[in-house]
Amino acid sequence: MIIAVDGPTASGKGTIAKALALHYDLPFLDTGLLYRAVGYQILQNGGDPDHAPDAAKACEFADSILDDPILRSEEIGGLASRVSVHPQVRAALNRRQVDFAHQIGGALLDGRDIGTVIAPDADVKIFVTAPAPIRAARRHEEMRKYGIDATLSEILADIEARDVRDMSRTDSPLKPAKDALLLDTGDLTIGDAVQAAIALVERKL
Ligand code: C5P
Repeated sequence: MIIAVDGPTASGKGTIAKALALHYDLPFLDTGLLYRAVGYQILQNGGDPDHAPDAAKACEFADSILDDPILRSEEIGGLASRVSVHPQVRAALNRRQVDFAHQIGGALLDGRDIGTVIAPDADVKIFVTAPAPIRAARRHEEMRKYGIDATLSEILADIEARDVRDMSRTDSPLKPAKDALLLDTGDLTIGDAVQAAIALVERKL
């Protein structure tokens, strides 16, 4: 069984994806980490994330830092979004994701283009959304817990900029696959969102 979970930042897709992988005992790949690793590599080496050759070069070294907690920061998320517009970067990272998705025994991947590009043949595709102000409030709360200082309006502006970039790029834009099941987590607790996702998968089995 291949399960594809896509959606914008702070929609809850990461938590839902991990919970589904655990529930169905599937190997899990957070594909955003691959793009984050490329963004981080650029930051370290002083390249330009908007310059395709610099970003493509950074892909060669991205593997070595996939586990680094620093990849989770907002700054790296923004860089990941910028490098991810380049077709050379997407091509360099795609093979690994396609292979992961199609391993024997199935897999669960979360990202932006899993249901549309990486595994259009997925058995279940879930597109997780929530209104931008709700996503910003969640991110704000999360950052507050980690002692990171940022105003709600700054976070909302960042989230909206990232949405626009992810949805408007020509190569593999963020959008639901035609056969994706939509899950709006705006009014749901995380526990309820996970239960709703399991119910969607069960409907498809
Ligand atoms: O999911 P996460 O926030 O970690 O992703 C960081 C960025 O990487 C996204 O904003 C998006 O631009 C990019 N990305 C992508 N395709 C994926 C996963 C992430 O373009 N499959």
